[in-house]
Amino acid sequence: MTARLLATSSEEENVSPETMQAIIMSKYGPADVLELRAIERPSVEPDSVIVRVHAASINPADLHEMHGPLITRLSSGLRRPKKAVPGADVAGVVDAVGENVTEIRPGDEVFGTCGASGTLAQYARGYKNLVAKPANLTYEQAAAIPIAGITALQGLRDRARIEAGQTVLINGAAGGVGTFAVQIAKALGAHVTGVCSTRNVEMVRSIGADRVVDYTKEDFARSGQRWDVVFDLVGNRSLSDLRRATSRSGKLVMIGGGHDRGHGGRSLLRPLLLAVRGIVLSRFVKPETVFFIANINRDDLLVLKTLCEDGKVTPVIDRTFALSEAPEAVRYTETGHARGKVVVSM
Ligand SMILES: NC(=O)c1ccc[n+]([C@@H]2O[C@H](COP(=O)([O-])OP(=O)(O)OC[C@H]3O[C@@H](n4cnc5c(N)ncnc54)[C@H](OP(=O)(O)O)[C@@H]3O)[C@@H](O)[C@H]2O)c1
Repeated sequence: MTARLLATSSEEENVSPETMQAIIMSKYGPADVLELRAIERPSVEPDSVIVRVHAASINPADLHEMHGPLITRLSSGLRRPKKAVPGADVAGVVDAVGENVTEIRPGDEVFGTCGASGTLAQYARGYKNLVAKPANLTYEQAAAIPIAGITALQGLRDRARIEAGQTVLINGAAGGVGTFAVQIAKALGAHVTGVCSTRNVEMVRSIGADRVVDYTKEDFARSGQRWDVVFDLVGNRSLSDLRRATSRSGKLVMIGGGHDRGHGGRSLLRPLLLAVRGIVLSRFVKPETVFFIANINRDDLLVLKTLCEDGKVTPVIDRTFALSEAPEAVRYTETGHARGKVVVSM
């Protein structure tokens, strides 16, 4: 662990200028291992920025980080997490900047990621992936954007290379990535079909889906229809089902998933194997199948900022929790049925 623990502390307690309240993961495990503690604030480095965190959002990647599946422990720490504070997505106000930083100044309102230091804390240290917050959004809305928004953007724009008029099916349309994907696909001019459960049908329609498939009543893979692009965010269907729903000249884009088995480490491998099989198969038989890991970068954060300021994308927030309630926020995300994003507000 890189952060030094100072004392057990409640959120209301005053902390000294050098300390802050943070959620600490001192070992791998479920949300129960998370604790609110007082730790040293991150200090500014020449290329870094310190952000006073106003809001952070939870992503399935944070849950994998907490559970520490075996295949990631070589880099994240074999016996316990090297990183003390979970979280990556953030929105807040710049508190200090390093001597080499020119684009950002203290007092700027920013959003982006501070993945190395963690964001479930009052302060976070970021490097290059922070840009000006969309002027029309709250900190909570801005914190919902980075990983989910960029994954949706890169999946549809760069991997699927969507063209106006194409048909797109989004499996998992009601989730963090899905709610951005529906809106971005519409902004790119696609005809969008969203797949979700009954309770989310109206919400997915309200954010722009032209058609909504309620998976409790209808199976998109057995409907006989084929889409130009199938964007799978759930990883719960067989490869043959996903390929059957994709037109021969179209693209099947996968990003992982594993919701149906929860977000613990055990669910990481199966969607990855599914994607590898799909990529190998598509070398011989169409449709083209693609798997990718989102690349968080400033340029795409700025694209999303513009989409939000133009009113084409509005982050969907399911629930907002206080920092002391972060374990509850994690548990809620772990259900795999959050409606849009889960946010921690400070
Ligand atoms: N490769 C990458 O770079 C990358 C980046 C980000 C995320 N991911 C992965 O992508 C997946 C989605 O991320 P996320 O942030 O969107 O997760 P999320 O917000 O936790 O997704 C929850 C959503 O999944 C939907 N869902 C659950 N079971 C479903 C089913 N059988 N059919 C259709 N929808 C279903 C739920 O809708 P209902 O409640 O209506 O069922 C819920 O709205 C995660 O597994 C994550 O690890 C990968």
